[in-house]
Amino acid sequence: MDKESPLKAIIVVTATALLCSVLVTLTAVTLQPIQKAYADLERIRFIIGISGVEDSVDEMSELEIIVAYQDIDVRLVDLQRGAFDSSYDPDAFDMWKAAADPQLNVPIPADEDVARLGQRSSLVTVYLVRDGEQLQRLILPVYGQGMWSTIYGFIALENDLNTIADITFYEHGETPGIGDLILRPDWQAKWRGRKLYDEQNLLRFRIIRGEVNASSPDAAYQVDGLTGATVTANGVMNLIHYWFGSHGFARFLNNFPSIGDM
Ligand SMILES: Cc1cc2nc3c(=O)[nH]c(=O)nc-3n(C[C@H](O)[C@H](O)[C@H](O)COP(=O)(O)O)c2cc1C
Repeated sequence: MDKESPLKAIIVVTATALLCSVLVTLTAVTLQPIQKAYADLERIRFIIGISGVEDSVDEMSELEIIVAYQDIDVRLVDLQRGAFDSSYDPDAFDMWKAAADPQLNVPIPADEDVARLGQRSSLVTVYLVRDGEQLQRLILPVYGQGMWSTIYGFIALENDLNTIADITFYEHGETPGIGDLILRPDWQAKWRGRKLYDEQNLLRFRIIRGEVNASSPDAAYQVDGLTGATVTANGVMNLIHYWFGSHGFARFLNNFPSIGDM
């Protein structure tokens, strides 16, 4: 074939393009499990961070975090039944992915969808932190719509299943310096010790505008607002309201004292 032939140029360009696309696909496929492992490790880091370990998670190595995670009892919960479910391996089940799978998700009724999710996985991953047989903390995933993005976090409850032990947010797309005030440790510290439900089992938790009045009877259920970022703060309150409402963890938390040791 003539060196200058346009046909040769087309063949060379096509072959190069094909080779490149095969290489890119191969790289993406090979890296997928590694990327997933890193994403999982990142999530595990946040779970350990609110599990009550004595060391600060920032000072723990990846190995120490993985070792600490081995002690956590990971379970799947069928929220509609309010009971543990053992039809899948909890370590392999991805509830966030399942939320988009019509075989595994359930629609959220519009009047209950305060977190603006549309649907969620019917099974949800929960994390039981135990000391021997005794439950220390229950860590639950929570997520919902902020101002610009879906905000993902975990909340740790004390073993009364009502008092907030800690909160963490590990993924969001809110504005740096405004909506991302939800990441501030001093704000998250204000959640500790607050309660979700009152004695009548009414969900009383609120993120209010301004500062909590410590002498108010509602103070035990309230966290200070974020001035200038009220839309994101309301999104966070709404996602708590969804996940601790009747379509979320409410039934499971009510049943837990009788099923907790299963
Ligand atoms: C470019 C831009 C980005 C903003 N990003 C956020 C945000 O991420 N979260 C938020 O709550 N408010 C954000 N705001 C502010 C909201 O529009 C709104 O004014 C604020 O949430 C109201 O809070 P305040 O009533 O406490 O002032 C942003 C505003 C602008 C102009």
